Amino acid sequence: MSLADLRSSVVGCTFDDFLFSPKFSVIDRRDPATIDLSCRLSEHLTLQRPIVSANMDTVTRAPMAVVQAEEGGLGIIDRGFRSGDIQPQVREVQIVKRTQHGVIADPYTIAVGATVAEALVAMERSRVGTLVVVDEDRKLRGMLTERDVRFLDTMAGAGATNIADRMTPLERLVVHQGPIEIGEAERLMVRRKVKKLPLVDAEGTLVGLVTAKDILKQQRLPFATRDAQGRLRVGAAIGAKGDYLERAAELVRAGVDVIVIDIAHGHSVVMERALTEFRRRFADVELVAGNVATAEGARFLLERGVNGIKVGIGPGGGCTTRVSTSFGVPQLQALVECARAVEGQVPIIADGGVKRDGGIVEALLFGGDCVMLGSAFAGTLETPGDVVHKSVLLPEAQKTVQVPFKVLRGMASIDAIKDRLDVEDADILDLETLGAEGLEVSVPARGSARPVIRDMIKHLCSAISYGGTASLADLKQRFWAHPERYLITLSAAARHESYDR
Ligand code: XMP
Repeated sequence: MSLADLRSSVVGCTFDDFLFSPKFSVIDRRDPATIDLSCRLSEHLTLQRPIVSANMDTVTRAPMAVVQAEEGGLGIIDRGFRSGDIQPQVREVQIVKRTQHGVIADPYTIAVGATVAEALVAMERSRVGTLVVVDEDRKLRGMLTERDVRFLDTMAGAGATNIADRMTPLERLVVHQGPIEIGEAERLMVRRKVKKLPLVDAEGTLVGLVTAKDILKQQRLPFATRDAQGRLRVGAAIGAKGDYLERAAELVRAGVDVIVIDIAHGHSVVMERALTEFRRRFADVELVAGNVATAEGARFLLERGVNGIKVGIGPGGGCTTRVSTSFGVPQLQALVECARAVEGQVPIIADGGVKRDGGIVEALLFGGDCVMLGSAFAGTLETPGDVVHKSVLLPEAQKTVQVPFKVLRGMASIDAIKDRLDVEDADILDLETLGAEGLEVSVPARGSARPVIRDMIKHLCSAISYGGTASLADLKQRFWAHPERYLITLSAAARHESYDR
């Protein structure tokens, strides 16, 4: 089967239309620690795990983005905050970037002349237990930990006591001058038995801080998606109109790793204008754009300088585009067409429609470099939104029980648009004329997204084993070289046997 044949095999097809034929397994243990699942999310951004959480306001804010990055994927913070208010989205990015560090380049500091009361306020506000004490020229003077000031807040005199009387002074600190590799910092900290290592320049000015906690996290989470400073990576979505350039500027200032220009129909004059303006202003910022679902759409974005392409029109669980408009492309067809069109020049993000873990394998083999998931994480602890208890009738027990639920909504649902635009209920009729293309549903609340991701990874490793290779990249390469060796197009009965459970 040639690639042209692969293309014709997938026309009109989507998840559940195929199985892959098993091959001789070359893997001893399906161990996620040893199977290479690395991939690219965008041209310059590599992930160890090909999973990205969707920029939906009921899916990805800082807690979800942290778990995703810790588990080797990435979260894209949605832009569903009220229009004109950029700071809430920026704060989410800042929280993620401050969760873990290699070297903390801008540690929280306090002036040497401050009082204990001021230090307690600073610790409370920054939620850190150690403040680096500096003078007015940012020269290192000491370090103040929670332990140094514990109980003082309940005693009289916290307002009068100077932190200089409580801190560990410079003379008693272990300090490193100049830049340092994390491994070297760790060895030094073990040797000198310290948990914090301030870094200074030749003049004694504070330039960074290394903490044992960060080093331990780096060891415990070896696949985490980190930037050059050891901070977790995070993406953020913007629109293509209104405040999008200003929003991008603030997000970039906060350290965002990739910007996603996300609109329902990315092959459009609106996107064309937005990309031109974006690239004029931010020539080097890593940029993903979408959504598209055709070869022309993918090439259109590629030619306008994007670093990654988000593919999917209408497959999403919270999406009603196809029902409302009868436009869209079955997701596996869209992926094959777009992947063929860009020929690996930039990665493809397979966005939407994955309803079971095997769907991730299909999305990746048919052309996705990574997958974006929304409803797969719905109801997990890290999704935004309150838990609401609802009465559910258990017919077999003939009784009603209270079950916790969370909301999952499409970003083009009336309520999501309404929240973004900051309009009153009275304007809802106007909104309806815009044509909502998203659903709002209640989903049972459940535990953390972390085990959900880990299960996905285990299943992906099993798939690689069934596919007769030892890495995701190798399996994809073999599939695209000889799709006929893998592809089984299912009859209705075979589909029923395979997927109806
Ligand atoms: P899943 O299937 O993982 O899909 O929930 C997530 C993707 O769905 C898209 N999305 C929407 N599409 N109307 C749409 O047409 C919507 O309201 C909507 N909300 C989300 C989006 O691409 C997301 O990543």
